[in-house]
Amino acid sequence: MYMIKLIGLFCLSALNAAAQDDLGLSSGYISFSTSDFDVKLVNSSQTLASLSTKDSSLDFSPFDLLSERAANGNYHLGDVAVRYRANGDQEWVDLNSAAARAPVLPLSGSNGSIATSNLSPTISENSPLSITREWSTDDEDVTLSFTAQNTGNSSLEIGGFGFPTEFNSIFTTRTAEETQAKCSLTDPNIGLAGGYLRVTPLSGAGASLVVTPLGNTTFEGWRFLPENTSTVLGYQSQTFEGFYSWEVHTLGYANREWNATQPWNPPTSRILTAGESMTYGLRFSLSPNIRSIEDTVKRTKTPLAVGVPGYIVHADSIARLHLFYNSSVSSISSDPADSFDFSATSSGYSLTPSPSAWGRVRVDIEFSNGAKQSVSYFITKSGPQQLSDLGNFLFTSQYYTNTSDPFHRAPSIISYDRSVNDYVLQDPRVWIAGLSDEGGAGSWLAAAMKQAAQPNADEVSKLEDFIHQTVLGTLQPPNSSAVRKSVFFYQPNATDYDYSPDIDWSSWESWNIPDAYATNRAYDYVHVSAAYWALYRVARFYPEIVKQASWDWYLSQSYNTVMFAMSNDPNGNPNADYSELGLMGETVWGHLLSDLKNENFTTQANILEARMKQRAEAWSMQTVPYGSEMAWDSTGQEGVYYWTNYFGLTSAANKTIDSILGYMPTVSHWGWNGNARRYWDFLYGGKLQRIERQIHHYGSGLNSLPLLQHFQQDPSDIYALRVGYGGNSGPMSNIDQEGFAAAAFHSWPDTLAWDAYSGDYGPNFLGHVLGAGTYVVDDSELSLVVFGGEVERIENDNVTVTPTDAVRRMVYLAALGVKIGVDAGNIEVVRYSERDGSMSVWIAPSISSVSTMAAAKSTILRVEKMAQVASFGSPVVMTADLTLLRGGWMIDLSNGTASVEIGFQG
Ligand SMILES: *[C@@H]1O[C@H](CO)[C@@H](O)[C@H](O)[C@H]1NC(C)=O
Ligand SMILES: *[C@@H]1O[C@H](CO)[C@@H](O)[C@H](O)[C@H]1NC(C)=O
Ligand SMILES: *[C@@H]1O[C@H](CO)[C@@H](O)[C@H](O)[C@H]1NC(C)=O
Ligand SMILES: *[C@@H]1O[C@H](CO)[C@@H](O)[C@H](O)[C@H]1NC(C)=O
Ligand SMILES: *[C@@H]1O[C@H](CO)[C@@H](O)[C@H](O)[C@H]1NC(C)=O
Ligand SMILES: *[C@@H]1O[C@H](CO)[C@@H](O)[C@H](O)[C@H]1NC(C)=O
Ligand SMILES: *[C@@H]1O[C@H](CO)[C@@H](O)[C@H](O)[C@H]1NC(C)=O
Ligand SMILES: *[C@@H]1O[C@H](CO)[C@@H](O)[C@H](O)[C@H]1NC(C)=O
Repeated sequence: MYMIKLIGLFCLSALNAAAQDDLGLSSGYISFSTSDFDVKLVNSSQTLASLSTKDSSLDFSPFDLLSERAANGNYHLGDVAVRYRANGDQEWVDLNSAAARAPVLPLSGSNGSIATSNLSPTISENSPLSITREWSTDDEDVTLSFTAQNTGNSSLEIGGFGFPTEFNSIFTTRTAEETQAKCSLTDPNIGLAGGYLRVTPLSGAGASLVVTPLGNTTFEGWRFLPENTSTVLGYQSQTFEGFYSWEVHTLGYANREWNATQPWNPPTSRILTAGESMTYGLRFSLSPNIRSIEDTVKRTKTPLAVGVPGYIVHADSIARLHLFYNSSVSSISSDPADSFDFSATSSGYSLTPSPSAWGRVRVDIEFSNGAKQSVSYFITKSGPQQLSDLGNFLFTSQYYTNTSDPFHRAPSIISYDRSVNDYVLQDPRVWIAGLSDEGGAGSWLAAAMKQAAQPNADEVSKLEDFIHQTVLGTLQPPNSSAVRKSVFFYQPNATDYDYSPDIDWSSWESWNIPDAYATNRAYDYVHVSAAYWALYRVARFYPEIVKQASWDWYLSQSYNTVMFAMSNDPNGNPNADYSELGLMGETVWGHLLSDLKNENFTTQANILEARMKQRAEAWSMQTVPYGSEMAWDSTGQEGVYYWTNYFGLTSAANKTIDSILGYMPTVSHWGWNGNARRYWDFLYGGKLQRIERQIHHYGSGLNSLPLLQHFQQDPSDIYALRVGYGGNSGPMSNIDQEGFAAAAFHSWPDTLAWDAYSGDYGPNFLGHVLGAGTYVVDDSELSLVVFGGEVERIENDNVTVTPTDAVRRMVYLAALGVKIGVDAGNIEVVRYSERDGSMSVWIAPSISSVSTMAAAKSTILRVEKMAQVASFGSPVVMTADLTLLRGGWMIDLSNGTASVEIGFQG
């Protein structure tokens, strides 16, 4: 989200023509090539200007905007930032080659060197550290290394050694098409000797860049690089996140700016005795496409770790870590110690969480050649327990009951500030306290989706109170299916509310009544329609706990809310803006459409389907159909994929999968694995407001949906499953030990903490619930693996699958291309034969470990063929005497667990 375009799309002519040239662009470039790259260095600074593929299809450097980044203080690749002190001193000294440029001193380099220079003129002539930089090539790769020598008479401690990076993530000045064609995004794997960077094209198609460490270089920290933010390119804005530095040593930061946090890796420094020198460097390699990035990492002989199901691990499950390296493991341990029990497997280790472990855990691996790799994990409670904790927190601590609230916000599940353990009843960004927009709807949306996955009678009753007393007539205007942008507003002359004098109410975000009560933001409708849909599902299968309206009323309300946003007013103008864009969470409208069909709400189903088809067909004709309120975004793809795939517009659907893979990485770190690019929503839903790479903001949960669905249709694409499952697990890490869920995690090393606000967590959780499941895959490299469960091969090629995901209603068997799902109750076990594909499924009324979960009297079993695999035909239910109902098979659960046999036709 949100509201206004912070930095619009400038046209190039608006740029300042007389930009500063401290960098020395006027003295030309040094050009060279490898078999994979064409490279340009700035002659004067010997920093990178251009790193282009041989066919010129992509430049990983922002060469076309270099003249706007030629001032002192603008970082480029090839710069160096060092922090040192005299051994024994307290105070650190910073050296930074970008701060005050002067032409470097060219030197004749070693064999194979392209450009070698001494950096003293651009660092400090008086420094006891003399730094030499060398650019080299081998056949295909480019390498960059620094040798720092202590030229003084006494020892120095190097506490910071950073390689600033500058890749082309500058969206400012570009149209959406240019952004997609020219830009790329960088994601780090902060894993010491196993560290690397992935620089992926925003389109998701074509070559990627991989940056790996040379020699003894490690990747210890990832530091944001402050630059002047008031330049025309808008450093640190919605169209330019800003750049980061690969840090080899971090002790100098850890005991200064970062002293309040627990870093990803133990901070180190290095002592350089008088006369001693050290060398650190990076290698730049081309990967033919995104899916081959890890193969490229392996080619450079960098240790690689691949975790299944990822790096966010439920307490009741076992994680697998596959290691790829040419040296054997000499030790493996965790910090905190004993968080995992490690047991060796043929390709690595299985990791069993210890009963007391919770939260961040680093796994340290030492190889017999001395290399050390780290992998960052996050251990949570069991999935069902987390949902139960979340529901409990939302319906107790966040349940707001003050019925004299002048804004009529009670009862509701309202935003929360964990740092003071209180409701957020006032915020200048009125929607956060106003139950709407992602930032204010987040908590009640999560509360509703929790009931869809794990209904609890008391919570459902409170949710119904919220719907009937607060949504109807307040969030939705009386007798209307419209949705307001906020029910909280700033208008002192209209209420005697005690607005806090400590808040600055003068910003554009502090809406008055007309602005707050406006109903023209299509995004807001998804949340309300999802809440109604959730209660429809609960009412249908747990009728005894839904008391204030019938299932068909909830279903109709959901439909009416969607269609209001999708319709025109009597004058023919759209009721809501943005209705032609993909909207966060609208996968739920796909579920709504299936339910309308299955319930014989034929008229409504036809109208909704026709409207979605209209949108999908428009998207299929656009080059970049991923518009949003913002100049660039990662929110539209989910809806665009859902409907283009639904209507068989496969080229648009495929392009959308590529687009997502362009901004959603997999690396061996819980924070970045499956973490779709988000960097400005702390401004609109967070407490600590800054432009900053967010960890597991709602992009994770929402973008997981297309990837998981795509995998179901193409089970050979395990890469998509790994990224998708990582994203889907993301929202599990936001839930703390008492059940509070935060908007996102702050990735800057001075913070490394969850935001205090609940904010816009809701859509993330919606993504989790709709995508949760257990995926079983027999992969050529990883062999038989499971994401979200346990799998065991028993005799006669039979495989037993026990779901351990949070929802436990879907099992996907890649070997058969079959998805088994239930609408209510839970799947306890699935067994299938690898030989003939016969399957058995055991379905329980509830998850026995969660006593507060309501029991379903019945459910509907859906067995769907998603992909053609081997020669398996269509799955058929073999168990006799089952009734076909609402598109599936009715399963009676009144006597407890039921089992069903499934086979194949033909
Ligand atoms: C690079 O700069 C040097 C002076 O520092 C100059 O002699 C040389 O011609 C320049 N090379 C190019 C390619 O412009
Ligand atoms: C790596 O470090 C070891 C031990 O400090 C040292 O002996 C070796 O020369 C270093 N290798 C390189 C390539 O710098
Ligand atoms: C952290 O560093 C700041 C200065 O950067 C200092 O004021 C503060 O006392 C330090 N805190 C600790 C716990 O060392
Ligand atoms: C009340 O305040 C709003 C702005 O917040 C203003 O537009 C309106 O004119 C005011 N009404 C009165 C009666 O002062
Ligand atoms: C929907 O209509 C079909 C055909 O008339 C009927 O067989 C089915 O039972 C109906 N389903 C429901 C849920 O009413
Ligand atoms: C879409 O991708 C699938 C593989 O995932 C491929 O089989 C299909 O041909 C592609 N379709 C188009 C139109 O590109
Ligand atoms: C294996 O599966 C087949 C078919 O589903 C079944 O008949 C057989 O009993 C199973 N064997 C075991 C050991 O579960
Ligand atoms: C449930 O159990 C009762 C008593 O054992 C039995 O009469 C009834 O047929 C069972 N119902 C189903 C659906 O299995």
